[in-house]
Amino acid sequence: MNSFATREPVDGATRPTTIVIFGASGDLTQRKLVPALYNQYRKGRLPAVTRIVGYARRPYSDDDFRGRMREGVAMFGGAPLEAAVWEQFAACLHYARGDLDVGGDYQALASTLTALENGPTNRLYYLAIAPEHYAPVIACLGAAGLAAEGQGWRRVIIEKPFGRDLASACALNDVVHAVFREPQVYRIDHYLGKETAQNILFFRFANSIFEPLWNRNYIDHVQITVAEDVDVGHRGGYYDQAGILRDMFQNHLLQLLALVAMEPPVNFSADAVRNEKVKVFSALRPIPPEAVSDYSLRGQYAGYRQTTGVAPDSQTATYAVLRVQVDNWRWQDVPFYLRSGKALAAKTSEIVIQFRRPPHLLFGMSSSTQLTPNILTLVIQPDEGMHLRFETKVPDAARLTRSVDMEFHYRGEFGDGPLPEAYERLLLDALLGDAPLFIRSDEIEKAWQFIDPIIQGWESPAAAPLLIYPPGSWGPPEADAFLAASGRAWLTHNGFHAGA
Ligand code: BG6
Repeated sequence: MNSFATREPVDGATRPTTIVIFGASGDLTQRKLVPALYNQYRKGRLPAVTRIVGYARRPYSDDDFRGRMREGVAMFGGAPLEAAVWEQFAACLHYARGDLDVGGDYQALASTLTALENGPTNRLYYLAIAPEHYAPVIACLGAAGLAAEGQGWRRVIIEKPFGRDLASACALNDVVHAVFREPQVYRIDHYLGKETAQNILFFRFANSIFEPLWNRNYIDHVQITVAEDVDVGHRGGYYDQAGILRDMFQNHLLQLLALVAMEPPVNFSADAVRNEKVKVFSALRPIPPEAVSDYSLRGQYAGYRQTTGVAPDSQTATYAVLRVQVDNWRWQDVPFYLRSGKALAAKTSEIVIQFRRPPHLLFGMSSSTQLTPNILTLVIQPDEGMHLRFETKVPDAARLTRSVDMEFHYRGEFGDGPLPEAYERLLLDALLGDAPLFIRSDEIEKAWQFIDPIIQGWESPAAAPLLIYPPGSWGPPEADAFLAASGRAWLTHNGFHAGA
């Protein structure tokens, strides 16, 4: 029995629960959070008495809020909205108007909640707001007594980005810890809620045939690609201050790397899993600012500077490659190549494990022949699944070999519908108090500690120039040379492809 099977659905008899969403009029609430909660409600997984209170500045009535959320569920909920289920669910939705940084509004919120709840109730606070509001909201929650646990547990989910560098992340952790104990805090990285990211640990540790090979003796290198075909769209103002390393690497790519590289935890508890991830982050070879060109490459798509909110001479990277070395017993000398970018040729997130070539050539091949190495690809999205490539003798030929692909696709194997959205799992886990898929304070600080010097190096006058690439390409061609220097090439499950 797997560990998830033992802990869902949430027992309907558990204590009533209120979920308060700060930033209730925003996109995240309408597109992701409420559709995810609706789906869990539909599946019977929320506590029997669940209330969802949206909090924002707009003067909505409960019914306005419900109407907006209905649109969100209809549009982004995945399965078609079932009118009868929606009516029941809508009765759980409430709206409270208030400012994010006005203490008096939190007193009013506290009174609203007490009146609605009418008895001991657990509370989950979700900060679906811009990061500059995290600290004031947390301070206000503390000052209004909303974090005190006498009448049920109190937990807080904090969205990304958590800080914009090590110093600000540490400062934010201090603010958070002045009000909440660490076990009450759920820092989100939605990549960890993706089924395929969760499956990395199951794949590695619920099977016995891969783990013995999962080390420097058998693996040549690892590639982690998170490619997006969309550009920065209407998020120019935010993005130009963030850039690809803060937006994608510090969180999503490093989290995927940790899942691939970590040692088996003793169990699936939050601390056991997160201890192992922290060990991986502690083993990352620091990239000092003066060495960034040896370990990284950055690009910007042509046209980015014309985006609203972007500086006309912006040096912000929308594409990056990092060579990451994990200096420990298992991974010494095995490079992890991480790349991500906006406005690329396709949307795909994949982890490629390239094994070493066979040590000795049989079959009468000349000494210059190189057999194609075995490649295992974990496709995180959009065609979730796995591919194992190996060599086969071509029939009716004496000694020819060819690579073939053994495939597994979630669609088909587990029904034809889409996989559940990451937020469904994450919200449920936070309600269950189950935190392995959330990020602990030390983990986030270690990740920033690794990323900060790279950003400093990129910003230094001596940095290699930013490479401009055409939208719809695979990034700057220099990215190919970056791997070719060690005799390697970028891969996706569709095969080799060039950078430009
Ligand atoms: C977010 C980034 O965290 O992840 C976005 O801020 C990015 O820039 C998004 O587009 C990608 O998520 P997904 O789930 O679409 O791969």
